[in-house]
Amino acid sequence: MVNRRTVIAGNWKMFKTVSEAENYAVKFLAEVKGIQDLDIVLCAPFTALYPLKNKLEESNVHLGAQNMSWADQGAYTGEISAQMILDVACAYVILGHSERREMFGETDEGINKKVLKALAAGLTPILCVGENLNTREEGKAAEWVRSQVIHALTGILREDLSRIVIAYEPIWAIGTGRTASSQDAQEMCVSIRTTLNGLMGSEAEKVPILYGGSVKAENIAELLTEPDVDGALVGGASLDPLSFVKLVHNAASVFARVKGV
Ligand code: PGA
Repeated sequence: MVNRRTVIAGNWKMFKTVSEAENYAVKFLAEVKGIQDLDIVLCAPFTALYPLKNKLEESNVHLGAQNMSWADQGAYTGEISAQMILDVACAYVILGHSERREMFGETDEGINKKVLKALAAGLTPILCVGENLNTREEGKAAEWVRSQVIHALTGILREDLSRIVIAYEPIWAIGTGRTASSQDAQEMCVSIRTTLNGLMGSEAEKVPILYGGSVKAENIAELLTEPDVDGALVGGASLDPLSFVKLVHNAASVFARVKGV
């Protein structure tokens, strides 16, 4: 059995001021300290990253950004570089979230440039992929996601694959309260792993593949009992510290019961 890390990442999206983020961190850390079996990540808005760096220092909770530029530096008004997010202690960065693809015109090509840049800088990209409802209903979800994965990972080195996290997030399940069944999530995670295997061989076994889309404390356990679902990317249910604590605890108990080695 491959001992992949289980990753539970909160995606706060465009929520929380600095003081809200700091208050959250105090409450959250007090309840999750001591959990070592999971990689817990908070992906906060850029303005909250520096204050969170100070709060999360020497804790078991990692920090992530929600986007970054493919450029190193220069005349790119409004952009944030890999070095800038590293400078505020980010270890992770979400790339290619469907909200960025759909509302801000992000393309497979641009996402690929960002993945390469993040890896070169030493960040762990959380690469998001997922189909919309039409594509699912046409029976083309696996093909769609396969193409997104192949495009996003073009040109990466085999040894870098183990530093990537992939999040399968069907667009129809994001923020809708409609979760994919755990079997659907498992099937798509297997399909993504098969794609990775085709690209990089057995290195594919090392890549944590998360599910995202209306994950909450009540359904995390069922999702995580699937052998190829290695964690979750959580939006709405990560916004309240105590709800997210509950979700993290439920995930940790599954890990101990089913995935523990
Ligand atoms: P949700 O969002 O948990 O609110 O559905 C997930 C995401 O967009 O990452």
